[in-house]
Amino acid sequence: MDFCLYDPHQGYYTTKDKIFGPSGDYYTSPYTHRFFAHSLASAFVEYFKLLSQPRPFHLVELGVGEGFLGRDILERLEERYPEVFDCVEYFPVEVGVALPDRIQGIVFSNEFFDALPVHRVRVRGSKLQEIYVSLGDEISEVESETEDPRILEYMRTGFKEWRNGCEYEVNLRMVEVLEDLDRRVDSGVVLTVDYGYDWEEYNSVDRPHGTLLCYHRHQVTPNPYINMGQQDITSHVNFEVMAKTGASLGWTSEPLRSQRHFLFDWGLEQRLLEEEAQGLLNPERAEERLGLKTLLAPDGISDTMKVLVQHVGVSSRDYS
Ligand SMILES: C[S@@+](CC[C@H](N)C(=O)[O-])C[C@H]1O[C@@H](n2cnc3c(N)ncnc32)[C@H](O)[C@@H]1O
Repeated sequence: MDFCLYDPHQGYYTTKDKIFGPSGDYYTSPYTHRFFAHSLASAFVEYFKLLSQPRPFHLVELGVGEGFLGRDILERLEERYPEVFDCVEYFPVEVGVALPDRIQGIVFSNEFFDALPVHRVRVRGSKLQEIYVSLGDEISEVESETEDPRILEYMRTGFKEWRNGCEYEVNLRMVEVLEDLDRRVDSGVVLTVDYGYDWEEYNSVDRPHGTLLCYHRHQVTPNPYINMGQQDITSHVNFEVMAKTGASLGWTSEPLRSQRHFLFDWGLEQRLLEEEAQGLLNPERAEERLGLKTLLAPDGISDTMKVLVQHVGVSSRDYS
């Protein structure tokens, strides 16, 4: 996964021209409608107050891709909240770009953690076997013992029970990123938007092959051994592990929400009323409305995506 996505000469993210949008392989929320960015901007204004209005107010975006989300958030802040915008220092982070050493503000991401390379394991009776890749004449999968002890720890943290014969993904890079943030963030909020699940949701469906999926020209396939370097490979984020890793570092979490819930919390109803006031059949607004529809379609992106907000070094409200 690491090689296929990030090899400097052949990797999907490092070399492919068009990844996002109609002529690419998939959409993310920033490509549907600016309301997604506007909701984040409204949330950031509240967190600015929670963090006692720091100057500078850092906005660190992990995995910016083409950068639409950061651009739209900054535009919104400048237009509606100039007093906050004046304090902002924005850091777009992509592969190979270092994070600031000291952060006071917000670290946010959209579909960053699901793009990190994972280990894959399979449960065999009472044992956990890692699925390795063998490079002979053909690529094949080989099961053997796990080498990194953190894999077992991750499995215990993330899954209350393991089903015999089933495969699971173990995202140790995610844990490493959170630990790294803990060293850098003095006081702040880590806001993550991504595909993912808590334990109840994971357990509510049979997932014999885990959640690893590949995207190529808007088609989904579970096979990572085709279109190598030309297709995206992702796995759902284990928010159980994300929240518990944060807790072990002394962070507190707001309850995990669906993206739809988050959008409602940050002004969706008002946005829809404004749209209605412009005339629902107004042909000049057709594109605008289509974007909102894609963002809000039932069982679409706003139901599959989740938002986890974690507070670092802040005396927070009680969210329990
Ligand atoms: C699924 S894309 C999402 C892009 C964008 N946030 C969006 O919503 O459209 C994931 C992005 O994370 C970037 N990424 C992956 N690993 C990274 C790392 N270790 N540091 C910074 N960026 C990384 C990839 O290059 C890619 O641009």
